[in-house]
Formats: sequence, C-alpha cells, structure tokens
Amino acid sequence: MGRTFVLPRIVQAPIGGLATVELVSAVSSAGGLGTLALTWTDPKTAAGLVAAVKARTSAAFASNFVLAFEPTALSAVLEAGVPIVTFSWGLPGPLVKTAHSFGAAVGVQVGTVEGAKRALDQDVDFVICQGIEAGGHVQSSIPVRELLAAVLWEAETVPVAAAGGLADAADVMEVISLGASAAMLGTRFVASIESGAHEAYKAALVASHSSDTALTGCFDGGWPYALHRVLRNATLANWEAAGCLPQLRRPGEDDVVARRETGAPVRRYDCTPPNSTMKGDVMACCLYAGSGVGKITDVRSAHALVKELAEFATAGTAAAP
Ligand SMILES: Cc1cc2nc3c(=O)[nH]c(=O)nc-3n(C[C@H](O)[C@H](O)[C@H](O)COP(=O)(O)O)c2cc1C
Repeated sequence: MGRTFVLPRIVQAPIGGLATVELVSAVSSAGGLGTLALTWTDPKTAAGLVAAVKARTSAAFASNFVLAFEPTALSAVLEAGVPIVTFSWGLPGPLVKTAHSFGAAVGVQVGTVEGAKRALDQDVDFVICQGIEAGGHVQSSIPVRELLAAVLWEAETVPVAAAGGLADAADVMEVISLGASAAMLGTRFVASIESGAHEAYKAALVASHSSDTALTGCFDGGWPYALHRVLRNATLANWEAAGCLPQLRRPGEDDVVARRETGAPVRRYDCTPPNSTMKGDVMACCLYAGSGVGKITDVRSAHALVKELAEFATAGTAAAP
C-alpha cells in the first residue's frame, strides 16, 4: 500500500453500455466519479471513449473491467490516459502494477471480506464492497452494511466505497456515517437523463418498488453462472412458472425480443439491458435493478443528482464518530 488516494464521495457504478460519455463526464464534472464500463468494448472504441470523456472534463473518471472476461481493452485505455481503473468479478494481480505504471489508480469491487483481504494484499488504491442488494451481476451474498463494517476493519487507511441498493440521500449519508469513503450507485444513475437506457426501462425503474426486484440466474445469455438482480418482468415470470428450467428447455428460448440499432438480435435470455436505440419488446429484456429502486422517484440529470447526494455525504461525514 502506501499510496494515498482520495475517492470522491459519490461514485457512479459501471453500468455496462448504459454508462455513456455524457453520463460519465456529467458525474465527474459535478465532483463525483464517473465510470465507463469497457469489458465488452474493442480496444480502439474504448480508447476513443476515454478520449471523449477527457475532452469533456478535466476531472478524474474510471474505466471498469469485469474479470470474468478477458480485459482486452485495458492496455488501450491506460495508453489513452484513463486516470482510474476498477475491476470486478476477480482479482487483478499483476494488472495493478501495470495500471500503476501508467499512473492510474486501481479499485476492486468485492463481495466478501476474504475478497477484500486479497485485493488489499494486491496493493489496490481502494476497495468497493458490493452488497447483495445490488443491481446487475451480484458478487455478494451479504447485505452491504454488514460487509462494509467487516471490510472497513481490514482496509485500515485504504478508502472503501459501499455499493448495492443505495439510491437516495439517506442511504448515502448512512454509509458515509458508517465509515465508507464513498457511496457507489448504479441503478440510480441508470434512471438519469444522461444514461443510455431505453426510456421505458427508466420509467419502469421510477414506477417500481424494492419488492419488484429478484436475484436470479434467468438472463444468462452471454454471461452464464452469475446471479443478477433485475426487475421482475414477463420473461422472468414465465421462466419461474415453468420451473426455472435450464438452457434449451426454457419458454421462448429462441425468441428475438428486440433488435439493436445495427439490427443485431437480442434474445429473450440475453444479459443485455435495453438501450435507447433498441427496438421491440424491450420490457421483456433483462432489466437490471438494485433493491433500492423503490426510492427512485424521477429521471434526473446526473449533474444535479451528484450535487445533491454529495451534500448529504458531507452531512454524513459530520455525523461520523
Ligand atoms: C445496468 C447495470 C449494469 C451493470 N454493469 C456492470 C459492469 O459492467 N461492471 C461491473 O463491475 N458492475 C456492473 N454493475 C453492478 C455495479 O457495479 C454495482 O455493483 C451496482 O450497480 C450497485 O447496486 P445498485 O445498482 O443497487 O446501485 C451493473 C449494474 C447495473 C444496474
């Protein structure tokens, strides 16, 4: 360890392809930390996205890689000068040194105390502890507040961000007062003006309650064997009613429910959430959402959201012992 890293209080979680350049730069220029999610992006495009964020803001931002997949664009984004890299679903090992050699700080998302200890042993600059409440793919089986307490104990002076089900000012204030250096929010930023999510998906997030989410293995096309938290929809309900059958025996297995802008098909059980250019029955697609969704009451500008949440984060610092 030994490097001192200051994490902005509000972090926008990597939210796959919904983390647009507009969203990431709005969050960072408002004093938060925006995050591009570049696991599935080719190196040239990824470097272009980093350059596009840099052209919009001089503030720091991050680029995320899910280590369940090969981080093929990592070298390209480091060369393009991304200031921070975050990893999830695995430990970066030698990639920490590589990122540091480019001057980039490194954060790792973990779902267990053991994972946090291992990440800390790898000289990471900050740790993100993800609770079971999280939207998207869920590494954790522990509530975020419980995990946070245990990880803070291990992390000593290394900053720790809390993630999972955090959606409003009270949540942010609470985790900060518990000792987190930052609150990381994903679903809340999906429901922002700048996110790339389909309008119907954003509207569904605003209309949903916490009890409308499910932790499931249903949408495994493209990423098998990884639980994910989603909004309940017809695809999930029909799959459950049929007995949660395995691949090739599921209802509507081959249905093309929507199409991307390029015309590429999105199949019923694909792990792709609907973006603004997708056409078709987008509400049958995978609609990632954390259990804090019930506290999202509007689709707001990310800039205003960060400003408001950061104020409460400051109040949480004052409340901390
Ligand atoms: C739409 C969506 C896409 C996500 N994509 C990624 C991703 O690409 N990489 C990653 O590490 N985490 C991803 N996550 C999980 C986040 O890192 C984070 O743990 C989660 O959003 C926190 O919970 P919350 O959504 O309740 O705020 C995603 C979450 C959502 C909602």
